[in-house]
Amino acid sequence: MALRVIVAASEVVGFAKTGGLADVAAALPRALRKRGNDVIVVMPYHRSVRLGKVPVVQTSTVIPVVVGDRTLACKLFRSTLPNSDVPIYFIDHGGYFDRDDPSCGFGLYQQSMPGGYKADYPDNAERFTFFSRAILEVASAIGFAPDIIHANDWQCGLVPAYLSEVYRERPEFAHTRSVFTIHNIAYQGMFDRNVMRLTNLPGWLFNHKQLEFHGHLNFMKAGIVFADAINTVSPTYSREIQTAEYGCGFEGLLQQSRGKLSGIMNGVDYDEWNPETDHLLPQKYNSETFPQGKAINKAELQRRFRLPVDATKPILGMVARLVGQKGVDLVMSAAPGFLDLGCQMVFLGEGDREYHQQLNEFQSKHPQHVSVHLGYDESLAHLIEAGSDLFLMPSRYEPSGLNQLYSMKYGTPPVVRATGGLADSVVGTTQETLLKGTATGFSFVAYTGSALYETVKQAVGLYRDRPKDFQKVIRSAMLQDWSWIRSAGEYERLYQRLLGITSP
Ligand code: ADP
Ligand code: GLC
Repeated sequence: MALRVIVAASEVVGFAKTGGLADVAAALPRALRKRGNDVIVVMPYHRSVRLGKVPVVQTSTVIPVVVGDRTLACKLFRSTLPNSDVPIYFIDHGGYFDRDDPSCGFGLYQQSMPGGYKADYPDNAERFTFFSRAILEVASAIGFAPDIIHANDWQCGLVPAYLSEVYRERPEFAHTRSVFTIHNIAYQGMFDRNVMRLTNLPGWLFNHKQLEFHGHLNFMKAGIVFADAINTVSPTYSREIQTAEYGCGFEGLLQQSRGKLSGIMNGVDYDEWNPETDHLLPQKYNSETFPQGKAINKAELQRRFRLPVDATKPILGMVARLVGQKGVDLVMSAAPGFLDLGCQMVFLGEGDREYHQQLNEFQSKHPQHVSVHLGYDESLAHLIEAGSDLFLMPSRYEPSGLNQLYSMKYGTPPVVRATGGLADSVVGTTQETLLKGTATGFSFVAYTGSALYETVKQAVGLYRDRPKDFQKVIRSAMLQDWSWIRSAGEYERLYQRLLGITSP
């Protein structure tokens, strides 16, 4: 039976993106559609949507959305997710979303301040209260009575609360069930208690069992408490967040909620991320032709990053939001050792000012071996995946991670810390996994620079001294199938369970 599903997210690749959430918010709906479901996507009408490449049209619909004591007009725009027939709706109101402009330091959620650090927009609570409420209003206005509303991360955390406490009485939502996906529990949307007034949710919900978290209103807690099902983006992370080390204060609540909590690993959109068809690469290749193919991409990568073009030097590549989560501090502490191993290093990312400074300094000290591109650049991200010899992802925590899945497909074995989705997707190289042919990367456990260094040393050793074995790792990494169809099937079963439908 086809399900009617609304997927709501604050970013969707092709229109606006800061990280993996955007990739998921486009790929999952496409995959659900391919499985025959009736899906729509809803996101804010960010400035980057208005200026983007994909044509968007304004609909004649204007929807009233109550925020605090005002009723705001929500303009509705519409397009289609590229490579699909999935409708995507964009929610607009005046100054809320038409502000992201990287050239002036304005992002989707944050702005650069005079000292160079980033600060959340002061009106984020209002922006995403409006967005969450508007999602439900849009469904009513366009006559889409959903079986499932699938809300993602704190920006949509109020959606399950609105459904349960306000919108349930509308006939179009009488049977709707809600799913809330936690992509990253560290970003919670914590606001002053006065924001309760903006939400117009009943004041008595502000208690420690529902919306309150240590005296604040917490949007992610709203999602966790009110959703009919919650999930995270890998099985290991769904267990980790039930511990004090990873739970960011929600471990107790999540233990209590474990009956409705599951972990579903993200997939890869192989229409976007496949070295055999990737138009962003100077040379396409597959699991047979990678030795020549990767060599051409490697030389181009060295040229683009102004490093000496040298086929013999192993390149360590990294593409990441430069924040504490991603283990940049480990990389910085192990990096002198990487130089001793004769590696070149390329970095692409943007994030915290301290990491920008450290990487810039490191580059100026070692211009022949280190090259850094600070900023967001999709084609460079693809080239790094294709042209590097090893991909660094030593995350402190990683709910799912997509880059390691991309790097496996591109034949660039990832070096990962075994946490969250990295533990669930990468098989580290040992004598045993090499023999069995299951090794797809290199993995370590302790969050220390020396553990990372030792693992890179092992990988570089294999690359130099046992190239046949290294190629074996590359081949099994490239032959992995992490396509969305499988993960979408798991989401579909979750939806069906909530609706009381037993799968055939
Ligand atoms: P996260 O969502 O935590 O940032 P993921 O591994 O799930 O981590 O996804 C990151 C996504 O963002 C990938 O698609 C990656 O290519 C992309 N990305 C991150 N930083 C940049 C950047 N500076 N330029 C281009 N793409 C980037
Ligand atoms: C978050 C996580 C990342 C995950 C992505 C998409 O940004 O940090 O691990 O892959 O969401 O689910």
